[in-house]
Amino acid sequence: MKKGDVKDISLAAQGKRKIEWAAAQMPVLAAIRKRFIKEQPLRGIRISACLHVTSETANLGITLRDGGAEVVLCASNPLSTQDEVAAALVSEYGIPTYAIKGEDNATYYAHLNAAIDHRPQITMDDGADLVTTLLTKRTELVPGVIAGTEETTTGVIRLRAMAKDGTLKYPVVAVNDAETKHFFDNRYGTGQSTLDGIIRATNLLLAGQKVVVAGYGWCGRGVAMRAKGLGADVIVTEIDPVKGIEAVMDGFRVMPMAEAAKEGDVFITVTGNKSVIRGEHFQVMKSGAIVCNSGHFNVEIDIPALEKLSGEKREARPLVDEYHLRDGRKIYLLGEGRLVNLAMAEGHPAAVMDMSFANQALCAEYIVKHAKELRREVYGVPAKIDKEIARLKLESMGHHLDKLTAEQEHYLSSWQEGT
Ligand SMILES: NC(=O)c1ccc[n+]([C@@H]2O[C@H](COP(=O)([O-])OP(=O)(O)OC[C@H]3O[C@@H](n4cnc5c(N)ncnc54)[C@H](O)[C@@H]3O)[C@@H](O)[C@H]2O)c1
Repeated sequence: MKKGDVKDISLAAQGKRKIEWAAAQMPVLAAIRKRFIKEQPLRGIRISACLHVTSETANLGITLRDGGAEVVLCASNPLSTQDEVAAALVSEYGIPTYAIKGEDNATYYAHLNAAIDHRPQITMDDGADLVTTLLTKRTELVPGVIAGTEETTTGVIRLRAMAKDGTLKYPVVAVNDAETKHFFDNRYGTGQSTLDGIIRATNLLLAGQKVVVAGYGWCGRGVAMRAKGLGADVIVTEIDPVKGIEAVMDGFRVMPMAEAAKEGDVFITVTGNKSVIRGEHFQVMKSGAIVCNSGHFNVEIDIPALEKLSGEKREARPLVDEYHLRDGRKIYLLGEGRLVNLAMAEGHPAAVMDMSFANQALCAEYIVKHAKELRREVYGVPAKIDKEIARLKLESMGHHLDKLTAEQEHYLSSWQEGT
């Protein structure tokens, strides 16, 4: 088997420094790695991981490898790979990696299939492309899979749909559903890194801009909160009335996209849904509007509709496409409508991925230990793992909690108390 496919292996030294920089901000994963080295809970287990190939993912790969696993990695998005990290994984850490930033669709799937050629016993997905390919095109390898894990909201939605109609052929643990994952990664990670991506791409001053955030879920809350903090006038669009109230009470204006489209300077979609910004919205946008997406797939912005309304386009800055609409307006699309935080910046900061990937590592261990009890369903992360990660993270940050007294414990567990 090839030992990977990366852009330029000579970038490895640079990638190694980047991986080490991230490691310094991932103390929970480091503690797990230390234990894994001693206990070897993943000894001989083949893991195929389809994740964003970043310095944080490299540290997860190293932890799994040091726990005894044979790990192979491929990209979960054509634009999210850090080429220097991919090079280092292959040449410095001996982890076969198939990922090149900007790879076309055919290469993306060739890389996914290369990871599947590893005959995984555990799959790790971010968006469920690996499991979908395995279950539809590489079915001969399915019986060898013990279970999988899934990193993101969109992947979990796809897997639950599969479980519902009986097409999910092995158990999957929804890492995204851990509190120590989505409370922090989706909110603070996506919040900060999405704005980081927009700023790096455009050098825009966000203060005074009208920023439209589509979707007020975990990611949207984070994006809106951080945009407000930078002085933007934030408008939220939603379809869920509860989220709508929450956005209003958090101090944002809430309106349909048809209205927001006329007002916004910057548009950010984070819904996990498709065609959230469509032709009818482009038709009323101001000239100079910037449009981007931080949801998992590049379907939230209807790019074919934008192409249809446009005469020509040019690259105004790297990965910033300037569309010239036939009526003379210009609209800017960032990162081809793909995850703007990974396409234009470095994705989530390591300190937050520390918890997400601690969940991945401990769930891999859980899968090996509990393989026989798991059915073909989507499972949540066991509460014990979630709480342990929170405890370790808080300690590593130098914060300490109170403990319940015996009297308090009794009070909280007894129905006779409280009078
Ligand atoms: N950029 C990243 O690095 C990153 C990180 C984590 C998650 N994600 C992805 O971001 C997306 C959102 O994740 P989340 O955890 O916030 O999900 P979520 O389910 O918590 O929130 C999504 C929100 O979008 C709303 N929504 C759905 N359709 C809409 C529409 N047409 N208009 C307006 N609002 C609409 C829903 O009501 C919901 O409140 C997913 O695709 C997820 O996989 C990306």
